Amino acid sequence: VKIKIKDRDGVIHEVDAPTDMNMNLMEIVRSYELAPEGTIGICGGMAMCASCQCYIESDHQLPEMSDDEDAMLAEAFHVKDNSRLGCQIHITEDLEGLEVELAPES
Ligand code: FES
Repeated sequence: VKIKIKDRDGVIHEVDAPTDMNMNLMEIVRSYELAPEGTIGICGGMAMCASCQCYIESDHQLPEMSDDEDAMLAEAFHVKDNSRLGCQIHITEDLEGLEVELAPES
């Protein structure tokens, strides 16, 4: 699926995210090197660091947050109403056209 990702410098990248590789949004950002190594995905996708926080800018209906994601975002910096943890968003066909912005590094 095609996803638009605004990086931390405000540059928008349109990337192809495969739906058949069991990847999440944090891994997509890393694989396209849209954030420097060590600034995203620090906990390895366990919903324990919030380095993968992003803002969902399109009106896609994403699956509900797990309790772990909700708890992590309750403690994170720069959280907005549309914040999600990228590592908890699995790449599925439903995400076609998704637009997200990476939250600032904290
Ligand atoms: Fe740590 Fe997502 S990678 S919370």
